[in-house]
Amino acid sequence: MVYDSELNTITTERLVLRNIAESDLYDFYDFARDPEVGPRAGWQPHRSLDESRAFLSMFKKRPLYFAITVKGEDRMIGSIEAMGYGLENHGKVKEIGYVLCRREWGKGYMTEACQAMVDFCFEVLGCEKLLCESFEPNKASANVQRKCGFEEAGRTRMFTRWIDGEICDRIDRCITLDSWKERSRR
Ligand SMILES: CC(C)(COP(=O)(O)OP(=O)(O)OC[C@H]1O[C@@H](n2cnc3c(N)ncnc32)[C@H](O)[C@@H]1OP(=O)(O)O)[C@@H](O)C(=O)NCCC(=O)NCCS
Repeated sequence: MVYDSELNTITTERLVLRNIAESDLYDFYDFARDPEVGPRAGWQPHRSLDESRAFLSMFKKRPLYFAITVKGEDRMIGSIEAMGYGLENHGKVKEIGYVLCRREWGKGYMTEACQAMVDFCFEVLGCEKLLCESFEPNKASANVQRKCGFEEAGRTRMFTRWIDGEICDRIDRCITLDSWKERSRR
């Protein structure tokens, strides 16, 4: 992971994470309206371009909200964010959330983006702990989190309905600075 503080970009082997631009609107809408994407992350698919435009202008104000792009193609294929958590201004604990457009699933991109975000949060932001959650049936997301070193920390039973209509649990996972350092040494 290479962080450019002037551009606020995070570069990995295959990806560039950068802040949102107006020109991302159509790519953003393309996955935000997909019924297979948002509901897996707990939000409803966008119903119009205007709805996506409104979210985009909100996300543009958040420096830790990144568009995921493939190196050499400046096209938004997903998003990843480190969100504030717990006491306001505490700043040492963040929660990571992410989504990827469906045609890019299964290429290892989110594992790469999430690992870069974890490294960025500990190395650059000085975080002490990171959180991530997923609904229990979301095996792909659970795998991303496990591969990035997150361990199960809690469970909220019967939290929501999964896309098949079944009620499911939410699993909370976390990684501490110490366990990240330990993994980085290996
Ligand atoms: C979850 C999501 C981000 C995963 O992104 P991705 O780039 O496809 O994930 P990766 O390719 O990095 O895969 C991570 C691991 O999960 C595995 N995996 C991928 N899809 C899977 C599935 N449907 N079931 C089980 N495992 C799966 C991969 O094989 C990989 O493990 P491996 O390297 O050991 O083979 C993507 O599916 C997505 O955006 N889904 C909709 C939104 C969402 O669920 N967001 C997360 C909310 S918590």
